[in-house]
Amino acid sequence: MSAELRVEYDDPRETTRHRKAGALEKRAADNGLPVFNGESWEEHVSAWIQLEDVADDCSWRLASIAASLHRIYKSQAAEKFAQEVKSNKRTINLFSQVYRTFQSGSILPNLRWSHYLFATQYADDPIAAIEEASTKDWSSYHFYKVLRGLAQPELPAPAAPVELPEDRCQLIQSDVTDAASQIETESVDAIITDPPYPEEYLHVYEKLAALASEVLKPGGSLLVMVGQSYLPQILASMTPHIRYHWTVSYLTPGGQAAQLWQRKVNTFWKPVLWFVKGDYTGRWIGDVAKSAVNDNDKRFHEWGQSESGMADLIERFTQPGDLILDPFLGGGTTGVVALKLDRRFIGVDSDPAAIETAGQRIATDVLG
Ligand SMILES: C[S@@+](CC[C@H](N)C(=O)[O-])C[C@H]1O[C@@H](n2cnc3c(N)ncnc32)[C@H](O)[C@@H]1O
Repeated sequence: MSAELRVEYDDPRETTRHRKAGALEKRAADNGLPVFNGESWEEHVSAWIQLEDVADDCSWRLASIAASLHRIYKSQAAEKFAQEVKSNKRTINLFSQVYRTFQSGSILPNLRWSHYLFATQYADDPIAAIEEASTKDWSSYHFYKVLRGLAQPELPAPAAPVELPEDRCQLIQSDVTDAASQIETESVDAIITDPPYPEEYLHVYEKLAALASEVLKPGGSLLVMVGQSYLPQILASMTPHIRYHWTVSYLTPGGQAAQLWQRKVNTFWKPVLWFVKGDYTGRWIGDVAKSAVNDNDKRFHEWGQSESGMADLIERFTQPGDLILDPFLGGGTTGVVALKLDRRFIGVDSDPAAIETAGQRIATDVLG
């Protein structure tokens, strides 16, 4: 952050400005929140713009500026301010609202900015909701699902066994970390998978790469769908175990773009990172795959992929008879499509409910 930026963040309790500030700002500072001490319009604009260029998460600091803007210039200022900082009015208002909601509440170390954002938007009592999320150690995405009424209130019952012909299809309830011990070494032709994208799941990518290095045949491919946000961390954690080969662009035409509003991006594609165990000796491959238009299938899992998009990937990268592994099975899309296309399949998921749903889906859709 530049030296001339007139914002006191490090210890707002020590500043003269802060001693003169109102009771609310004092409470915010006592609560560990940054306090924005600028006064003029230009100070607000320049502080916001400079913070947006900072690489680390500065959401609470932006929120302190938005709250100060509202306090000094009132809410009508948000539109003009948004134009000047090239943001939008809703973002400015939301940041200010989150800050004002929690300036006298508690900022808890195991929660992220997105928890506070969701609580402000969707909870009747945001402070109580945040305390509950903290004691239950809910990820921000799980918290969102709870607030929107989408989460399973209790742990699902253990998976009901579904009879699947073992030579064609096997489903294993296991964490990805322990899956290698249950799969024959160097038996898998390709891993095609779609792990969770939120930051709290970044640790699974290294486990996935380690699994791939054990169970893939030499020359076998690992195709992993990822979000764009944490690509540097994902590549850094995987490449010590398996060689990066290429990135395939996976298009999801139609419908609405996913909005990554923290990054100010509407996205119409996702990367599929392609790693190879050893050297790739397979056929030539075009590097754009796509789902059918508006094929957004969430019937079997809230993060479910479409069968059409999965079929495109499976046909590009595997042959009939190949053994495909998906260690983040979810609702079983990879399995259903693999079996329909005469491949063999192993699916792994840590969630017993996913194993049960996928097993029943495969039994009904493919083998029934
Ligand atoms: C994005 S979903 C997969 C959705 C799937 N592609 C579909 O079309 O339905 C990711 C899955 O990974 C599972 N998962 C998360 N962490 C895991 C872990 N450490 N080991 C194994 N599975 C895990 C989750 O339970 C979830 O079902």
